[in-house]
Amino acid sequence: MAAGRARAPTTTSRVADVIGRSGLTGITFKQLASSTRLPAGEVTRQLADLAAAHAITRHGRGLWALSEYAGGRSPGPGFRGPDWYDLEFAREFGVSPVGAPREIQFGPNDRRPVHRWWPYVQGFSAEFVEETCRQYGVGRGSTVLDPFCGSGTVPTTARLLGARGIGADLMPIAALVARAKGEWDVTPAAFRAATRRVLRSTGRLRLSPPFLRETSRQFAAPVVRSLLRLKQGVRAEPEGPVQRLLELAFAGILIDSSHLKRAPCLGYTTKPNLTADTPFQLFEARAAIIEADLLLLGKHRASWGPPVEIHGESSATLPLRARSVDLAVTSPPYVNGMDYVMNYKIDLAWLDLVRSYADLARLRGAMVACDNIPRGLAEGHRPGPEVAGDPWVTWVAASIERNVHAKGTYRRADMARVVTKYFDDLLPVIRNVHRALRPGARFVVVNGDSLIAGTYVPGDLIFARLGVQTGFEVERFEIARHRRSGQHRGFQLRESVLTLRKPTGRPRPR
Ligand SMILES: C[S@@+](CC[C@H](N)C(=O)[O-])C[C@H]1O[C@@H](n2cnc3c(N)ncnc32)[C@H](O)[C@@H]1O
Repeated sequence: MAAGRARAPTTTSRVADVIGRSGLTGITFKQLASSTRLPAGEVTRQLADLAAAHAITRHGRGLWALSEYAGGRSPGPGFRGPDWYDLEFAREFGVSPVGAPREIQFGPNDRRPVHRWWPYVQGFSAEFVEETCRQYGVGRGSTVLDPFCGSGTVPTTARLLGARGIGADLMPIAALVARAKGEWDVTPAAFRAATRRVLRSTGRLRLSPPFLRETSRQFAAPVVRSLLRLKQGVRAEPEGPVQRLLELAFAGILIDSSHLKRAPCLGYTTKPNLTADTPFQLFEARAAIIEADLLLLGKHRASWGPPVEIHGESSATLPLRARSVDLAVTSPPYVNGMDYVMNYKIDLAWLDLVRSYADLARLRGAMVACDNIPRGLAEGHRPGPEVAGDPWVTWVAASIERNVHAKGTYRRADMARVVTKYFDDLLPVIRNVHRALRPGARFVVVNGDSLIAGTYVPGDLIFARLGVQTGFEVERFEIARHRRSGQHRGFQLRESVLTLRKPTGRPRPR
């Protein structure tokens, strides 16, 4: 063997060592080169050696992990996974997880009148909300609240059951949709007439495309003109429920008219058949569905509850009457989950709900923290004593910090702060809901966990802990479904349904 090819075991172990420290999430080539400070060629050589010895495996998105981590097995000493948290949670609160598989996601709403008016990937299945409402005796005279109402599945379902539905969502497109989906005092004939006017509107086009720089990449030029014509027609209608339904129909065709798909994040795709007619055809088809559903709804008018009450503001500060709500059902943004503003920026911009990139940034900064918030916001944030003093939050934050440091580079160096801020943002909402609920009422929360920089974050159970700090008791903890981590495909995450109860102050019957 030539002397120049002799390998120093210390450098080889450096690569293995750094991969090992990256734990469950693995590490990318770039991160590896930066952490080891070795030239790219040397990293490649050492990776090849380790792979040949089956010491490492390659998995999704070009990540490397030690073989022992592949498949989510043996995550290494000091790792706290779901089992550890579930056990501790049971010890502390006397509630263990129960498998209760059910459809909680939006998917089946495509076939449900009203709920199908605006597909919201992050939304609830109407069936789940209906079951939950029935379980807790919701009916005429009841009030149901969703503090993160999204497309309004909860308030809409409440109204269908004869109850009063209240919802809040800070993202204006969600508030617009939720409001429009809950207003059925519109005759199908009036809606049809308005739709026809929009489809036939002529005259000089006075509107220009939204401020988004990528518009010409996202939409073909003839499609942009057709969309603007439709928008102009919708704007010409008098303000009110009919116009809101037209806006909803318009919002609902934007992605289908573009070169984009939502799966669930926005991404480019190929759609060969887009023409100037596409927006008109899509709009007409969507309006026809709304009209058919209005006809159906009208037959059950006698059983409707009062019109839904939707607030386009933060549920942290939403003024709610104390002890006025009989049931709260919600699904908050998940920890390290979606950047809603990024994913709905097209709808927001085309409907003039935001008018600049600065507006988008402001909106993102006001939402429950996701991993796209500006650095300054995470850095300047000082969590309140409840979150700063919660041993689970502090452990998780310290573990993320350690792992990010060990990796050398990570998506965000301040990830631990983002996660801490996320929990701190949830706390005022939990407090607000607690105050609004009548004693004995339930707060049913669908939530998920996450794997962040090799640290398991039990978002569902930490939410419940904050609930207990606020005055709730934990009644039930059900696992509705399992899903795979985006960071490590072999690691199983979950979505759970946690039921919190506001105590009555009286001893509970056994
Ligand atoms: C998982 S989605 C809820 C979906 C909803 N359950 C449905 O059926 O459509 C979470 C929602 O929380 C909203 N959100 C985030 N931060 C908020 C805040 N501070 N106040 C109110 N809503 C917020 C997001 O805009 C998003 O629509």
